[in-house]
Amino acid sequence: MSQIVLSGIRATSRLQLGNFLGAVINFVKFQQPGNTCMYFIADLHSLTTMESPEEIRGNLTEIVKDYIAAGLDPEQSIIYAQSSIPEISELCLYLSMIQQVGELERIPTFKEKIKKNPDNVNLGLLTYPVLMAADILGPKATLVPVGEDQVPNVELARSLARKFNNRFGETFILPEMMTEMIRVPGLDGKKMSKSDADNAIELSMTIPVIRERYLKFGVTDIERKLRSDPGDPYKRCQSVYPVHELVTVGEIEIRAIANACLKAEIGCVECKHQLVDNIAKVLEPFQAARVEIVDKNDFVREVLHEGGKKARALIIETVKEVREKIGIVIY
Ligand code: TRP
Ligand code: SF4
Repeated sequence: MSQIVLSGIRATSRLQLGNFLGAVINFVKFQQPGNTCMYFIADLHSLTTMESPEEIRGNLTEIVKDYIAAGLDPEQSIIYAQSSIPEISELCLYLSMIQQVGELERIPTFKEKIKKNPDNVNLGLLTYPVLMAADILGPKATLVPVGEDQVPNVELARSLARKFNNRFGETFILPEMMTEMIRVPGLDGKKMSKSDADNAIELSMTIPVIRERYLKFGVTDIERKLRSDPGDPYKRCQSVYPVHELVTVGEIEIRAIANACLKAEIGCVECKHQLVDNIAKVLEPFQAARVEIVDKNDFVREVLHEGGKKARALIIETVKEVREKIGIVIY
């Protein structure tokens, strides 16, 4: 079945290995004839934390370069900035009229954000999922690949679509969620996160730096105190084995590592070296492609311009339909 695949990423900083292995590799796989792939930079969403204008602008183009170097092809995927399409904000406003506040206050990501930053509980944080619903419902996406943490937000988009359709007639498509997005652990074993620089591996780091970080900070099986103690790669190894499963090619090689760990035939240092060798195999082609486009800012602008036009054409159709149904006329 052909799909309209859509996903966004906030323009908060450059991508890291977690985004790359957990998300972008999947995005690339959806680029197939018949699918419409829409991948955007959620620059409006990143305004909830109001970084400097230079940062917002800079991150946006750098992330587009990361996307392209990772294999997103502007000929095959629609790559755009959320803010290039004012109708998304318009749709967000319309959707907010059928969204109860209480439900938004109960969303876990909102609760976390206000706990983290109690001095800046702005309205944008509360309406964050409504804007996300506009991102998704505007182009009538059928499939939304997201990480675990975004599930309640996509659920909200589905519930808004249902509510609107019930009240105003069939308009929106209920998107399916794809949550097999992989949770990639950072060096401390917690989810690798852009906002937690200490646990992340940046895509721009050189292989020697990555090696040093894994050797120094990568948490393994803390119950494995001596080299002769058998380890538990599956349940206790925090930051190394789970990444082996993602980057080490071939079932046989992965099983060999797990077995060697279980039988204490491999030490964690050697295991980390092997991991970084395998990370290098996926990262080096990316880094080479990234160097190619590092100063092609005109090209990036062109990609965003063309992507914006294509995405806008799709979204405008939906917004026109919505205006009509709710009684808004543009004079
Ligand atoms: N909130 C998402 C995140 O933080 C980014 C995002 C914004 C998004 N709009 C979206 C993801 C629409 C999927 C669909 O990762
Ligand atoms: Fe983890 Fe490898 Fe050490 Fe086993 S040997 S605990 S898999 S780092």
